[in-house]
Parts: sequence; C-alpha cells; structure tokens
Amino acid sequence: MSFVSVRDLFQFYGHRPILERVNIDVAEGEFISIVGASGCGKSTFLRLLLAQEQPTRGEISIAGAAPAREPGPDRGVVFQRYSVFPHMTVRDNLVAAEAFRTTRLGSLWGRAKAAARERADETLARIGLSHVADQYPSALSGGMQQRLAIGQALASRPRILLLDEPFGALDPGTRLAMHDFLQALRAETKMTVFMVTHDLSEGFKLGDRVLVFDKPRWDPQAPEAYGATITYDFDARNNGIPFQTIQEETNVLRPQ
Ligand SMILES: Nc1ncnc2c1ncn2[C@@H]1O[C@H](COP(=O)(O)OP(=O)(O)OP(=O)(O)O)[C@@H](O)[C@H]1O
Ligand SMILES: [Mg+2]
Repeated sequence: MSFVSVRDLFQFYGHRPILERVNIDVAEGEFISIVGASGCGKSTFLRLLLAQEQPTRGEISIAGAAPAREPGPDRGVVFQRYSVFPHMTVRDNLVAAEAFRTTRLGSLWGRAKAAARERADETLARIGLSHVADQYPSALSGGMQQRLAIGQALASRPRILLLDEPFGALDPGTRLAMHDFLQALRAETKMTVFMVTHDLSEGFKLGDRVLVFDKPRWDPQAPEAYGATITYDFDARNNGIPFQTIQEETNVLRPQ
C-alpha cells in the first residue's frame, strides 16, 4: 500500500472548483515536485495534505490514516517567505519550533527544555548553522534564514516535508547551494518530500517525479468554471531531464 494516497479529491471554495478529481499514490521516501500555473491550487493541495483544510470530497490517507488535524510530528512545512522569529536567536528559534509543536502553550521547562536545546544543536549542525547559534536571524543571509526555516520543520523529525516554493526568494547561487543541502538531507533522512516550485528544471533536478497541475477543461468565457487536476506525472529519474543541452542530457541519461 502506498504511503500517501489521494483518492478522487475535490476542493471547492464556495461554488468555485479549485481542485477536481485528484488521484495520486506516493511511496515513502519519494521526492515529488509539483508545478503548475499560478492560482491553479498547488498550495491548496499542500494545505489539504497538512489537514489545515478539509476536502470538499474525496480522501487523503497518510500511512493508512487520515492526516491528523493537529500539527503533528509527522509533517513539517516550509513556505517561500521564511517564518523565523526575529526576536529569538537561531538556536532558540529551533527550541521554540519544537515547543509549539509539542506543548499547548509553546513553552518548555527544565529537563524538556535542556533536551530540546540539545536536539536544536544537532539540527544546527545538520543545517550548517552551528557557528551562528547565538545570533539573531537579521544577521543571517537569505539562504541561511531559509535553512533555519527548514531546520524548524525538521525539529520533530517529520516523515513528510512539505515545501511551498522554498527557494523562490533566493538568488541563483544560494538556490544551488540549497539544492545540495536538500539532497544531502534527504539522503540522510529518507523523508518523503512534496515541493511546489515554479522552476521546472529545479523540479526535475530534485524530484523523483514531477506532477503537473492543470485544468483539463477550460472555458475562455468562464475561466473559473473548472478546477485543476494532475495532468502529467513525469518519472524524472528514468525519462531524463529535458531542460539541458543535448550533450549534457546524454551524460545525464547514461546508466549509472
Ligand atoms: N481560503 C480561500 N478561500 C477562497 N479562495 C481561495 C482560498 N485559498 C486560495 N483560494 C483561491 O484558490 C485558488 C488556488 O490558490 P492556491 O494558492 O492554491 O494556488 P497556487 O497554485 O498555490 O498559486 P501560486 O503559484 O500563485 O502560489 C486561487 O484562485 C486562490 O485565489
Ligand atoms: Mg501557492
């Protein structure tokens, strides 16, 4: 049985269909890239996986059960604009992320706090920010702040990482460094990842599969009459990477 399974999922806002009959099965450990036109419902799909919203129709199951409505340790999320706390040090940002996830009031005391600090330091080492643990986010570059946001999402060691255009605000060089970071992290943790991106080559580079969300039906007189669904499911590992020059592509396609 697949790890994440989506069956005949529909989402309406009022009478307006956003998503129509979405079906997908994802194995544990797969990296799923999601692309599609602006406004077609990609972030909505992630919110449904997070159970921040309930679908109008259809079912989602994660590890055989409906996704829990409470933010749980199984899913971590990172948005395009990082959501770090500016008034806390880098280390305290990670401790706070864990506290918000595990306690109702968002505060930890005594032994629990000491343990959270220890885990924060492990995460800092993993995301390469140990040397700035006691600094404030304003002292960090955009890429470092985004690594910290990913570190927050990893604080509870989630089985699923949801990334909504996580590198959209970064310059090209920092973006490439973040790709390496994410690939290394994934190799280490074997997490299942869903990543929305507007950059097709990024989607094919990082993903095992690239899902395209699009409207199969389109009425120019009534552009909001129909919703989007998954119109393509590319096997990014075996079908090659069509966004490079021919010569590079032959190298990429050569069996390892
Ligand atoms: N809570 C809501 N209530 C009503 N409409 C909404 C709500 N959230 C999103 N929408 C609408 O649903 C559609 C899909 O939005 P969504 O944010 O999922 O698109 P997206 O594919 O992530 O777009 P982008 O690439 O621009 O981020 C949009 O038209 C948006 O205006
Ligand atoms: Mg979006």
